[in-house]
Amino acid sequence: MCGIVGYVGRAEDDSALDVLMEGLARLEYRGYDSAGVALVTGDHTSTRKKSGKLANLRAELEADPLPPSTTGIGHTRWATHGGPTDENAHPHRGGADGKLALIHNGIIENFHSLKRGLLAQGTVFTSETDTEVVAHLLAAAYDEHHDLTEAMRVVVADLEGAFTLLAIHADQPGVVVGARRNSPLVVGLGADANYLGSDVAAFIGYTRQALELDQDQIVTITADGVTVMGFDGAPAEGKAFEVTWDAAAAEKGGYATFMEKEIHDQPHAVADTLLGRTDADGRLTLDEMDITEHQLREIDRIIVVACGTAAYAGLVAKYAIEHWTRIPVEVALAHEFRYCDPIVNDRTLVVSISQSGETMDTLMAVKHARLLGALTISVCNTHGATIPRESDAVLYTHAGPEIAVASTKAFLAQITACYVLGLYLAQLRGGSFADDAQSVMKQLGEVPGKIETLLGRMDRVKEIAGFMADTRSVLFLGRHVGYPVAMEGALKLKELAYIHAEGFAAGELKHGPIALIEPGQPVFVIVPSPSSEHGLHGKVVSNIQEIRARGARTIVIAEEGDEAVEAFADEVIRVPVTAPLLAPLLTVVPLQVFALWLSTAKGLDVDQPRNLAKSVTVE
Ligand code: M6R
Repeated sequence: MCGIVGYVGRAEDDSALDVLMEGLARLEYRGYDSAGVALVTGDHTSTRKKSGKLANLRAELEADPLPPSTTGIGHTRWATHGGPTDENAHPHRGGADGKLALIHNGIIENFHSLKRGLLAQGTVFTSETDTEVVAHLLAAAYDEHHDLTEAMRVVVADLEGAFTLLAIHADQPGVVVGARRNSPLVVGLGADANYLGSDVAAFIGYTRQALELDQDQIVTITADGVTVMGFDGAPAEGKAFEVTWDAAAAEKGGYATFMEKEIHDQPHAVADTLLGRTDADGRLTLDEMDITEHQLREIDRIIVVACGTAAYAGLVAKYAIEHWTRIPVEVALAHEFRYCDPIVNDRTLVVSISQSGETMDTLMAVKHARLLGALTISVCNTHGATIPRESDAVLYTHAGPEIAVASTKAFLAQITACYVLGLYLAQLRGGSFADDAQSVMKQLGEVPGKIETLLGRMDRVKEIAGFMADTRSVLFLGRHVGYPVAMEGALKLKELAYIHAEGFAAGELKHGPIALIEPGQPVFVIVPSPSSEHGLHGKVVSNIQEIRARGARTIVIAEEGDEAVEAFADEVIRVPVTAPLLAPLLTVVPLQVFALWLSTAKGLDVDQPRNLAKSVTVE
């Protein structure tokens, strides 16, 4: 979950530090407990690194500037091995001569045994990291081979785990060498310079031309060229692509926080995820799907694997996919999946959902599912990320970069993509809902406009959040697709406002949670549409009455025109009318907005809440 950037410019270009710092600023969302840079400066490498946010590194560079350079590497860290200290911050030096510097994302699983070997040879360590072990191994391999690419090839052969590594060596100025296994690395192709990054945000300010690398590949960049080879030394080529995200999309677009911007991106996130999914006759097509139609017709079970918000998207999707396809859908937290002896075979479709595509728990679940013979589809927002590359097929969400740690637009895009998948399966398998696919797609197409309308009415939600800065606990109730929305609302509040929050199925209230209700307890209730089946609407309205009678302060999210809730609601937040299964795409929005403004009212860091990182690449 670290951010990595590498740069090489021409001899007359000494802007390496500026490029690295800009890349790190855009990558800070990937991890932010420390940051550092290393440059090739004459006959050695020079580093500056500092624990804390990037601002600390900036201050350090002002106090102790680095000489100009054409070549360097930069890193933002989220600690795994060794606490977030200056010493453990990357880059790490290898060897005794200070010529080699290395940065790393991931975990070297066998670092203890490698370190024991180095200690026996008298190597002195200055940090507790697994990275420094690799730095020393690489320095030793360089001394033997006098070539950084070859040294990298030799060293990666001894490493176990997941890693992206970038290295520079003072004896090879004008070169950065990278390697990746189960961890992201992309190449940016400039006119007079080349770049490496954990994702395209690292270099989007400079170039849109990029190369996707495969697993187990080493890349060497100079100002004039890029060469790629496998860990076995065989020449290889990256896959070229053009970055369609513009630079502004990676910034705040005029909002005070990325989260606020991303909440407002949601109409586009849904609309873009629906783009290109129907052919001229209005029939659903999934171009990115490599699994055969025959295989998809044969599946008899779907398991969704995901974590956090992505898992709640899966829970929403379960209702819709089961309804449309009559295929049983299970949702497993990815970190539990492997350990519950899952019942999986070649007729099981495992759908992973991940914004980053790098969540290690989800990646491991996908790998386990494949091992057991399942078909795997990745619903992912990040092109070229590890999880889609490890899956049989991919359904990309097109939410654009999500930088705030709290997931918002990715959630809506994930639900949308899963719905497209469900409708596609329904159409393919020809059940009773096959003919409905087109009309549901049409209804989905109307959702972005409805989100836009809803976003225009969030002033009252902001005010309510403003009054509630001292609140210690908030409960959320929902039913059917509103139940995962309630849990998502609670998750948003926990991670952003650091207060106790819980989401319940409204029907469960009477089985225990109603004991929590005391005078003044704020409770958000997500009310199903009056058009919902099985009288669900009336049942939830009764739940509102029950908690109101016990003193709860009820904040009710209800459809326009639903007058039945008025009498029992302290506040009513109206959402546009839509089909009951599509309602989560609307009802979650006020909950996101509430969490955003409650966090703001408490003076907290909305985009980078404490203890969390955007992309959790360790198990
Ligand atoms: O990148 P992913 O979608 O795989 O991330 C999964 C979760 O870590 C993520 O949704 C997390 O729960 C968010 N912080 C929630 O806002």
